[in-house]
Amino acid sequence: MKTKQVHLIRRPVHASVADFTIREVELPSLRDGQVLVENLFMSVDPYMRRSMDAEAKDLPPWPIGGPLDGPSIGRVIQSRNSKYREGDIVESMSGWQEHFISNAGDFIAYCSANDAIARRTMQDGVNPEDYLGLFGIASQTAYFGMTCAATPVAGETVVISSGAGTVGMMACQIAKLKGMRVVTSAGSDDKVSWLRVELGVDHAFNYKRTALDVGLREGCPRGIDLVLENASPEHFSACLPLMNPGKLMLIAGFISIYDTGGRVNPIANFEYVLDRYVTIKAFPFMDYLYAYDRFVDDMVKWRRAGTIKFKQKVYDGIESAPEAFLSLFTGTSHGKVLVRLGM
Ligand SMILES: NC(=O)c1ccc[n+]([C@@H]2O[C@H](COP(=O)([O-])OP(=O)(O)OC[C@H]3O[C@@H](n4cnc5c(N)ncnc54)[C@H](OP(=O)(O)O)[C@@H]3O)[C@@H](O)[C@H]2O)c1
Repeated sequence: MKTKQVHLIRRPVHASVADFTIREVELPSLRDGQVLVENLFMSVDPYMRRSMDAEAKDLPPWPIGGPLDGPSIGRVIQSRNSKYREGDIVESMSGWQEHFISNAGDFIAYCSANDAIARRTMQDGVNPEDYLGLFGIASQTAYFGMTCAATPVAGETVVISSGAGTVGMMACQIAKLKGMRVVTSAGSDDKVSWLRVELGVDHAFNYKRTALDVGLREGCPRGIDLVLENASPEHFSACLPLMNPGKLMLIAGFISIYDTGGRVNPIANFEYVLDRYVTIKAFPFMDYLYAYDRFVDDMVKWRRAGTIKFKQKVYDGIESAPEAFLSLFTGTSHGKVLVRLGM
């Protein structure tokens, strides 16, 4: 059968839709042990921008002119593997294509090679796309950051950058559930208003209109007790002079540096790390997968109780995947971005 895949045609300095193309390819017949999967949804994530570069470090670089990888959820439509039946819903790292053949190896989200899949159960009120959204890697990062890497203390102040992104919106809500005072920022007045009204954060500002040091000082009159950094070295640097002694700064990522062609502003105010005995910790979500079952249980429970909201935008069709991906870097995305590949 034929299927469509997104391929990279060159390695960009600044990414654009012209770096991608859609190719129709012929899939071979299934061999013993293999399954044929129809993808239903794929995720687009900031880390993928680094996969476009030849010197990508955390994952192997995406190939030029071959299928890409990334989180997806799909349905088995043909099986020659005794562990899987037609109709099984499976998670994989074989996004960016409508169908794929897998050898059905053991799957670990994000770390697995293309040939691995895992069956996902559809308990009451759970949709296949939840495995990429509500239960996806960004949501896990927020949860593991706020409940494993850090110990939230009620009444203390947490600063979370990119508050209207996926990690940010989930971290803001978990911090509120733990009784923290939440200070955040985003790149538009609409996002700021959503953070205040819908998520109930204590202070939010538009970092494109208010200088970072000003917005943070206004939001943190008693200093900062915890940082969850998603955005930029500039935001991280602006937090440092406000840190209370002995506190923690978690770095999930710096989305601002992924598409700058290697140009990165250095961290400023570093002397405050010594003066205030600050701990800085970069944390990969994979380090906390031991807490995955607790995470899913809490997400289901919190969503049912209406104590957590999950905003997502779904683009339709594989042709829209490059545009969906690039929306993460222009500020046009708000919440999680997914692409529907099948029904
Ligand atoms: N450590 C881990 O295991 C792990 C796992 C997943 C993600 N991450 C990291 O966590 C961070 C957030 O990921 P996510 O999935 O939540 O992202 P996301 O949902 O795609 O959010 C993207 C948002 O980032 C903001 N942004 C884009 N370019 C920016 C820039 N130049 N400066 C400041 N803000 C910018 C935009 O919002 P505004 O309009 O508000 O600017 C955009 O909507 C990223 O750094 C990512 O690499 C880490």
